Amino acid sequence: MITGATGGIGRATALGLAALGADVAITGRDVARTEQARRDIQSAGSGTVHAFVADLSSQAEVRRLAEEVLARLPRLDVLINNVGGYWNTRQVTVDGLEHTFALNHLAPFLLTNLLLDRLEQSAPSRVVTVSSNAQALGRIDFDDLQGERGYSGARAYNQSKLANVLFTYELARKLTGISVTANALHPGVVNTGFGATDPAPIQRLFVPLARPFMKSPAQGATTSIRLASAPELASVSGRFFANGKPVRSSPRSYDETDAARLWQVSAELVGLSPSSG
Ligand SMILES: NC(=O)c1ccc[n+]([C@@H]2O[C@H](COP(=O)([O-])OP(=O)(O)OC[C@H]3O[C@@H](n4cnc5c(N)ncnc54)[C@H](OP(=O)(O)O)[C@@H]3O)[C@@H](O)[C@H]2O)c1
Repeated sequence: MITGATGGIGRATALGLAALGADVAITGRDVARTEQARRDIQSAGSGTVHAFVADLSSQAEVRRLAEEVLARLPRLDVLINNVGGYWNTRQVTVDGLEHTFALNHLAPFLLTNLLLDRLEQSAPSRVVTVSSNAQALGRIDFDDLQGERGYSGARAYNQSKLANVLFTYELARKLTGISVTANALHPGVVNTGFGATDPAPIQRLFVPLARPFMKSPAQGATTSIRLASAPELASVSGRFFANGKPVRSSPRSYDETDAARLWQVSAELVGLSPSSG
């Protein structure tokens, strides 16, 4: 299952996995775009394509999505947490949370936890979370996680992508001894709709010039596809990948105290027990 498969890297990941013969489940937030993606992905492979619609910036929607997935999919071999975005100005979700933190970190945190039993029942299985090299610039500001005192789009994005890696490593530690792996990745700099709704001024200026030099969505999807499907990675867990290979993530991402604290704070913010996972 791939979240955010109506466009960009997620769509290319779903197309690639379908072409490998996988049964694929996708999520989108718009009914028509999701149905169009389902049809396109269906014609790329011979497996079944299930489509789910949910706005993952809303916790109620994440919970409804998880319920529908549990009702419709008797097994779940791979969950790819792909949805993510950038907002230059501070925006607030229906839950009253800062949008970047809610969508990029809390949504995959909650969805993964709600689907963990199904992943365990389907083991060996995998959780793959699309982070970014921006994690290297990130800091978790526990005193102002949601940019209430001061907001910068870059700071919020970098923090959320570091949170993806801290979450992945903490999840991998919690899953020790269970055949469910958890890895994170940087897809590369990819020519997608990323950040298009509320870009930073510098993005407005440079992204059009840089587009010809960026990876295509298909190229950007290769690490996600490899982490989801490569037999030799079946027992690799708690690693960060770029260009298909394991690489070290930022020193901060290995801070186990921060990872445990972030898990606890996140559990509180989504209404899960802190010992979940
Ligand atoms: N592009 C890059 O260079 C780059 C670099 C490093 C990391 N990444 C990461 O790669 C991941 C995918 O990014 P992308 O470049 O493929 O971005 P994208 O082209 O903007 O695609 C994002 C996908 O997420 C969906 N989405 C957005 N907001 C949503 C919401 N509230 N609820 C449900 N779905 C939502 C979009 O659906 P709609 O079709 O409805 O918009 C779309 O399917 C992100 O996590 C990003 O941080 C990207």
